[in-house]
Amino acid sequence: MARTALVTGGSRGIGAAISKALQAQGCTVAATYAGNDEAAAAFTAETGIKTYKWNVGDYEESAAGIAKVEAELGPIDIVVANAGITRDAPFHKMTPQQWQEVIDTNLTGVFNTVHPIWPGMRERKFGRVIVISSVNGQKGQFAQVNYAATKAGDIGIVRSLAQEGARAGITANVVAPGYIATDMVMAVPEKVRESIIAQIPAGRLGEPEEIARCVAFLASDDAGFVNGSTISANGAQFFG
Ligand code: CAA
Repeated sequence: MARTALVTGGSRGIGAAISKALQAQGCTVAATYAGNDEAAAAFTAETGIKTYKWNVGDYEESAAGIAKVEAELGPIDIVVANAGITRDAPFHKMTPQQWQEVIDTNLTGVFNTVHPIWPGMRERKFGRVIVISSVNGQKGQFAQVNYAATKAGDIGIVRSLAQEGARAGITANVVAPGYIATDMVMAVPEKVRESIIAQIPAGRLGEPEEIARCVAFLASDDAGFVNGSTISANGAQFFG
């Protein structure tokens, strides 16, 4: 059945691979982005996937954006809360601003994205909610008190939503990627990145498509009894 999907942060990195995988699965996809107009335009030109610009950390903007997507593409059946940022610093150097920016985007952003869509899913008795967490939410990470808090929070959100949505045909699941070859990981100093890769039994970074395939499975009609789970895809770096 043709479904409509929304992917936040869906025009770059892991999100772009997710948008493409859902499109390949027959979905009509809307991808949101925060600021990079050029990358979004190039993504739409390449894929035909419509992009929408809003700040997931702002509830009113999110609700208005979602209403626009639903008016243009139809009710959203699948929502992938993928948008995320890092503001890494050792805890003794982390500023309240670095803390708040990551909380607003990565954690409150999940609430702001799913909350406006949820009532429609309940009415239509179908929904797929997929939240992109991280191995660093499962194990913690030096210099990521803020980020790890949000990514651990994703798991709590999903386990609660799974219980609330189950009777209404809605599933909620987490995909927890390890270190994936994206701009975010490439921004880590090279020496540090090399030492991280040395700790991954697979001996390499993951590819965005390897995460997208997990999401595509969870988004499918076939995955209806998988609910409240976490799929870890991290090359055996950690068993969360
Ligand atoms: N474990 C232990 N010690 C570490 C460390 C680690 N992972 N990373 C850095 N350190 C140590 C350094 O060796 C250094 O020690 P010395 O002072 O003894 O030499 C010290 O911490 C660095 O301290 P500084 O005060 O100089 O740190 P800084 O203010 O310059 O910050 C940093 C540097 C931001 C921590 C930088 O090292 C960094 O970016 N580290 C990577 C953090 C990381 O892994 N982020 C993940 C990003 S990818 C992602 O988040 C995607 C995902 O979901 C997986």
